[in-house]
Amino acid sequence: MASAIVTGATGITGSAIVHHLQKDSSYKKVYALSRSDPGYKDPKLQHAAIDLQGSADDMTKTLSGISAEYVYFCAYMAHDDPQELCRINGTMISNFIQALEKTGAINSLKRFVLTCGFKQYSVHLGNAKQPFLESDPVLEGEVGGETWPPNFYLTQQRILAEAAARSKNQWDWVVTLPQDVLGFARGNFMNEATALGLYCTVSKALPGSELPFPGCKAGYFAFNTWTSANLHAKFCLWASTAKGAGNNIFNVINGDTESWQDLWPRLAKRFGCKIPNPMFPNGGTADSKGYKDFEPSTTRMPNKHPLTARAADLGVSSDPSKEESPTLFCQINPEKWAARDDVNKTWAQVRDKYGLDQKAWEKATWDFLTFALGRDWSCVGTMSKARKLGWTGYADTWDELVDVFETLEKEGILPPAERLKGDF
Ligand SMILES: NC(=O)c1ccc[n+]([C@@H]2O[C@H](COP(=O)([O-])OP(=O)(O)OC[C@H]3O[C@@H](n4cnc5c(N)ncnc54)[C@H](OP(=O)(O)O)[C@@H]3O)[C@@H](O)[C@H]2O)c1
Repeated sequence: MASAIVTGATGITGSAIVHHLQKDSSYKKVYALSRSDPGYKDPKLQHAAIDLQGSADDMTKTLSGISAEYVYFCAYMAHDDPQELCRINGTMISNFIQALEKTGAINSLKRFVLTCGFKQYSVHLGNAKQPFLESDPVLEGEVGGETWPPNFYLTQQRILAEAAARSKNQWDWVVTLPQDVLGFARGNFMNEATALGLYCTVSKALPGSELPFPGCKAGYFAFNTWTSANLHAKFCLWASTAKGAGNNIFNVINGDTESWQDLWPRLAKRFGCKIPNPMFPNGGTADSKGYKDFEPSTTRMPNKHPLTARAADLGVSSDPSKEESPTLFCQINPEKWAARDDVNKTWAQVRDKYGLDQKAWEKATWDFLTFALGRDWSCVGTMSKARKLGWTGYADTWDELVDVFETLEKEGILPPAERLKGDF
């Protein structure tokens, strides 16, 4: 029977992995690491409070007596500056591995599974060649006549590969690349589904119960892929022992291709809202007016689209669209929407009626919605690489979204949809 160490155990990806390890009878012990205490009751789960920003020496004290065959690294600290993001997240994984080396726990290790994401393909910088393949060239530094910012996933991957080589390959690694994760973590609302659920709830309770799409028209029609936190956890457990998976990077997405044009009307129906027609009365493109009296936003990014770097090998050097800078346009800026008086009064009314968690509102990541709904490019990857090695997992994106909403209802973050529909 195996043991596992999970870092970032309270986060969206980490908590799902802990949950699946707990259910998996082939694991006898799970060491869950984070700064906050998740309050486990099962003796199979042992929490250790650790600050991964500390030095390797500091961590050896906490990690004393802890060893495992499998490490699932999901700790993550956000930062707006790409250099700082690399430094912080690079130091966390580097010091953690050094601490495992110092305690000798590294000698038990068989595979280290690191969670990264689609920023590997520079989706945060604009439109890139699609579908994304794990073998696609990465953008960092000088590529294709442009200077690209450092990418913290690549920093982490270099550190991990160097450490595995240092061990004379006694252990190997797997890197997973999920796209926008649909999941739930208590006390952590960095989650597209939570912000969306709150937006739909308050929209239902506002006069008229309309559900306008906050983002841009092109984004409404673009194609996207999502990752269920549960499916990602199952993938990580599969990849930790899958033959031929070692020292490889894998996309991890649900397996369907979705779009807001498909999901938005379903959201409206679930929350009892009306789909406005026209959805984009002022065009829904950069610099256009907002939806009704809502405030829009247009953000031009300083870089060119990542596709630019591939222009020559894709044969699109003469395509003028590659010259455009990536733009995020929201006909209703979610951050400004969440700060409006009428929206806050309506939220307070809904919160008090159903006894909802005020922290959910305060911690909702409206800025993430601004990006996810405001971009006008698709984000589609393929699962072919993992499937060729035997991965058969699949999740339906709409079903996963509903599953998260139901969890949010049970946790007192969203009201029961059926009651909301009857009450407003
Ligand atoms: N969420 C998404 O939609 C998404 C999509 C694609 C890729 N990803 C990637 O998935 C990876 C994991 O992200 P996530 O979304 O699961 O993160 P998350 O939900 O924000 O959780 C972060 C975890 O890291 C822990 N942590 C943060 N700082 C720490 C520190 N100094 N010491 C110890 N633990 C610390 C947090 O616990 P404490 O605060 O209790 O310490 C928490 O458990 C990241 O690389 C992220 O970019 C996420």
